[in-house]
Amino acid sequence: MVKKLKNIFLYLLVFNLHSDDLVEEGKTVESDQSMVVTRHHLASKAGNEILMKGGNAIDASIAISFALSVVLPQASPIGGGGFMIIHDAETGQNYALDYREMAPKAATEDMFVVDGVVDRKLALESYLSSGVPGTVYGLYVAHQKFGSLPWKELVKPAISLAEDGFKVTTTLANSLDKETNRRKLSKTPDGRKIYFQNNEPLKEGMLLIQKDLAQTLKLVSNFGPAGFYKGVVAQKIHADMKNNNGLITLKDLKGYKAKFREPIEFTYKDLKIVTMPPPSSGGLLLGLMFNMIENIELDKTKPHTAKNILKISEIMQIAYSLRSIHLADPDYYPVPKNAFLDKNIAKELLLKVNNSETSSAKHFDPQNLKIKENTTHYSVVDKYGNAVSNTTTLNTAYGSGVVIKGTGLLMNNEMDDFSAAPNQPNYFELVGNEANKIEPLKRPLSSMTPTIVFKDDKPIIVTGAQGGSRIITAVLQIILNYYEFGLSAEESVHLYRYHHQWKPEALMYEIFEEELMNELTEMGFTLQQRPPDYDYSNGITSSIMIEGDKLIGISDPRSGDYLSIGISSKK
Ligand code: DON
Repeated sequence: MVKKLKNIFLYLLVFNLHSDDLVEEGKTVESDQSMVVTRHHLASKAGNEILMKGGNAIDASIAISFALSVVLPQASPIGGGGFMIIHDAETGQNYALDYREMAPKAATEDMFVVDGVVDRKLALESYLSSGVPGTVYGLYVAHQKFGSLPWKELVKPAISLAEDGFKVTTTLANSLDKETNRRKLSKTPDGRKIYFQNNEPLKEGMLLIQKDLAQTLKLVSNFGPAGFYKGVVAQKIHADMKNNNGLITLKDLKGYKAKFREPIEFTYKDLKIVTMPPPSSGGLLLGLMFNMIENIELDKTKPHTAKNILKISEIMQIAYSLRSIHLADPDYYPVPKNAFLDKNIAKELLLKVNNSETSSAKHFDPQNLKIKENTTHYSVVDKYGNAVSNTTTLNTAYGSGVVIKGTGLLMNNEMDDFSAAPNQPNYFELVGNEANKIEPLKRPLSSMTPTIVFKDDKPIIVTGAQGGSRIITAVLQIILNYYEFGLSAEESVHLYRYHHQWKPEALMYEIFEEELMNELTEMGFTLQQRPPDYDYSNGITSSIMIEGDKLIGISDPRSGDYLSIGISSKK
């Protein structure tokens, strides 16, 4: 039986805003016109208001990203970067927008190595931890190509939220109170000023006011990318970096570019899956895993049988093993893209799968796996049929914790997504090698996997996740749960997830029944629990499923503040 998490309908509000529209908000919501699902109710509202003004999915996404920059300091897009998959209903075209952070020009291969080992704090909690932020540029490029409402209109809700403040939710209060986060955020004078009162982190119900950030956002509103990458904000970033041994310069900021890349497209049975290419590892790993799964028999009675988990975890191991040596920024490394998507290679790799017990990491040594030739998420669907699947991040919660003096900008720690030294695990315990080494101006390999699934050329699933390395397997399981195991849209998202990333040699699971755990232990698995309310769980998602005329918005119950808002025409 499918287990559901608690608090499914924490609140369900139905109210009337326009005479001819019904707006409904809650955790799982159905509508027939449009849907937004984001990690914060105020960001969902900002996006929905733009849709109500006649804006399209991209307009709403831009307003959501800027609002998240204010209400979600854990993943504040403006100091970080991300990826966006866009479906343009009018032309049927799909686009992949890469606004990932870039290493500063002065970055060096061994910048985090001290006495032969990676200094984890230097990589994660210092001025050196940040890549050049990509969000403002990325959103601007998206607006230039697809926006229908004025840029300023889209930045406005964020400015008000920063200037007037908003109430700290339970989730945010708990997060600010965590020891690591207290440590990170109390490091800079501005961090202490913004997130603390009387030396204590802000508590639930208190107002978080961010005047400097409001000012930064006003410059972005008035001048577009020039308000961020040039002028006062850029000068402040440069000066603060220089005073604190950081590397990002005015020139790095001026040189930042977001770019459209060819999306990864592959078929799985009668589905077409459109997802993110490198520098994300998500799309290629998803393609490889689906190509292998296409050739195995699954027990369709339920997703969580020991045999199903064994087969799929073997496939996950192969994919993550190959990730460790072949994937990186394609502008710097010849990524064997075609090989990852080759159905025959997938079949050959399947021969390595053990059908009776879990394989050791050594069995899947990437050097012996032949691959020739040669991943915070929100989802939006508008009434025109356009869809946006967007994942954005600072990397770990509150990024490096560095707040750039006088700007309210919380900086990312995305440099930790590079392989700082061969085979030394990063924050997400991922190992990497030569391909993903640190190089000037290069983008770190990501697991962010914004994805749109099509059937008969119509979007049926818009999904993606937060959760580091677990993002890719979360997206995989949501699609499999929905399409292969026939679970409802909501069950597909709620079902407890598992994850295997080759190294460490462990199957990470949220909650399993005891009998299943015994069977898996007999198969040789080392089980490592990551409860569903744990940081990042096994991925936390914002998903929209489209069934005919019905849009189903599903907020992942693994975290508290998510909200889905749907608009329906009054019948
Ligand atoms: O790009 C990546 O793969 C990571 N920087 C993503 C980090 C993440 O998902 C943290 N999650 N809550």
